[in-house]
Amino acid sequence: MPPYVKISVGRQSLGDGESESTMSNYLPFTRPTIDEQTIESVAEVLRSGWITTGPKVEQFEQGLCDYLGGERRVRAFLHATGALEEALVMAGIQPGDEVIVPAMTFAATANVVVRLGAKPVLVDVDLKSRSLLLDQTAAVLTSRTRAIMPVHLNGLAVDLDGVYALAKQHRLRVVEDAAQAIGTLYKGRKLGSFGDIVVFSFHANKNLTTIEGGAVSVASAEEAQMLEILRFHGITKFADGTMDVTRAASKHNMTDVAAAVGLGQLKHLDEFNRKRRQLAHRYFELLGDEQLGVVPARGDEGHSWHMFTLLPHYNGGCPDRKTLRERMHQRGIGLGIHYQALNQFTLYRNMGYAEGRFPNAERIGRETVTLPLFPAMVMSDVERVCEALAACLKN
Ligand SMILES: Cc1ncc(COP(=O)(O)O)c(C=O)c1O
Repeated sequence: MPPYVKISVGRQSLGDGESESTMSNYLPFTRPTIDEQTIESVAEVLRSGWITTGPKVEQFEQGLCDYLGGERRVRAFLHATGALEEALVMAGIQPGDEVIVPAMTFAATANVVVRLGAKPVLVDVDLKSRSLLLDQTAAVLTSRTRAIMPVHLNGLAVDLDGVYALAKQHRLRVVEDAAQAIGTLYKGRKLGSFGDIVVFSFHANKNLTTIEGGAVSVASAEEAQMLEILRFHGITKFADGTMDVTRAASKHNMTDVAAAVGLGQLKHLDEFNRKRRQLAHRYFELLGDEQLGVVPARGDEGHSWHMFTLLPHYNGGCPDRKTLRERMHQRGIGLGIHYQALNQFTLYRNMGYAEGRFPNAERIGRETVTLPLFPAMVMSDVERVCEALAACLKN
């Protein structure tokens, strides 16, 4: 009996249009690993009669809080998109305010700013770390800037000392988008165990999944209470069974079914991330000389390796990404695209972010591929990917 049962993601959307082939040895770019105990715990929740927010969500929040060292308040959400939006509301972001967002991220980071009537002010990223550039961040600050949203893309921590120094100097809130970085360490400390507001995602392809889900880590009890109000209709409940509604808030509460999956995953998170690091190291051994493409920043042992991305050297033998993905697919290997730059989308282009403004993000957007990386892979899978890449880039 293998230690983990692979749950095939079949044709479910992983958010980037990838769908798995029916090929039996097909290697997708990601796949969740869920053990039998977790599946059983979900069945228990379903049988219990209490399936929406209840004791499992409370346990999951406590589990996350303990995982982060016990000093923070953690509140679970239905997804990170809702968590990011309410985090900005809690941070006091108003229509007309400006919020700094890297031009290379998943659309949700900037979309939530737009949804509040505020303006995402985009900055370029470093080509290898894909982290927002601090000098550009400092250069776009205005009297309307209220917050910075650093994104720990691919599980690599942003230079938080630099971000927080800038935020302190200009009295800005920091909403860290750690959607891809549960378990990542920055200078030896877990993301979310310190800092202003830190948001995680537990979407199906994340290092820890609850199928869909998210969480916010904050320092104070007051902010945690505000998040509870914001995630559930603006309701405050009283001991006598009555309630008050103080704002027209939305609904983002996690279910106990999702929390049961999360509790099962949390037990394995460090082991999953260790395996991801080992697989990434093997990719570096095979690709590190950059013969096949520009490899990502290595980071340190704190990198949780949510994704391993490459900027392949397209050439006469393989002119573009579409061709490469098709050839790899034929060989039974799925390559993801994470991500297009925000100004390669109509919404952000129409806001005035013309092509050419963010050369690194745009190059990544045009060229990047995501190589398979998930805990159930074995080292020979990495070798298979690299051999296929070499062959597919040649002809
Ligand atoms: C960087 C980033 N931010 C936000 C999100 C949104 O997370 P969710 O799907 O949980 O809403 C994602 C999800 O992929 C992400 O990668």
